[in-house]
Amino acid sequence: MRKTIVAGNWKMNKTPKEALELIETLKPLVAERDDVEVVFCPPFIDLMLAVEATKGTNIKIGAQNMYYEESGAYTGEVAPNMVKEAGCEYVILGHSERRAYFGETDEMINKKVLKAFEHDLKPIICVGETLEQREQGITEDLVRLQIKIALKDVPAEKAVLAVIAYEPVWAIGTGKTATSVQAEEVCAAIRKVLCEIYGEETAEKIRIQYGGSVNAGNAAELFAMPNIDGGLVGGASLKADFAKIVNY
Ligand code: PGA
Repeated sequence: MRKTIVAGNWKMNKTPKEALELIETLKPLVAERDDVEVVFCPPFIDLMLAVEATKGTNIKIGAQNMYYEESGAYTGEVAPNMVKEAGCEYVILGHSERRAYFGETDEMINKKVLKAFEHDLKPIICVGETLEQREQGITEDLVRLQIKIALKDVPAEKAVLAVIAYEPVWAIGTGKTATSVQAEEVCAAIRKVLCEIYGEETAEKIRIQYGGSVNAGNAAELFAMPNIDGGLVGGASLKADFAKIVNY
């Protein structure tokens, strides 16, 4: 049985003070479900405060990114051991905004995934197609490629700890959710490629999230699909509504 995982990707929102306010609002509202893993992913500057503020709760903290080098002359970057020592359990890698605005390639994402595992961080690996790619009919081919490169050289015993987030780029922040059937179709294809790489036993253990305009109204239907094990939530994670998604 895969445990549902609902993660809030706060993106570039919430100052430290605002982050604490949001955590205090959400804390009592998401405490109930012990069958759902809850993860908040605030900006780097809020991470240590968030870890402190969620101590003793069921809420886990994740970073939104990290670099793949250990340390050194990489101005503006954050190293894996910094993310780990801050108290994070998860790290989002390869988000489509990182790919589109900051030039992240599949190869870079693979390096980050390997580094995350080296530092005992669980990666939430984002994949997904643009509208143009969907219209060209290459969604599954593209997502297969993204997964295969991201997981290159990752052994099965590590892969089971990873979370894959299927996020169609056209559904992110647009209010246009993929239908549960569309989302399930791609998530099933992801499970299939995981099965090709690792075999069925391992593939059945890896959680696959859907992301892209998930809200309190559509979460239940999406999460009920056989290959969707929760969601990566952007906009709706910044409001009390996030609790409704967790308690779907
Ligand atoms: P959204 O973002 O829920 O605002 O569409 C999802 C994401 O980018 O992870």
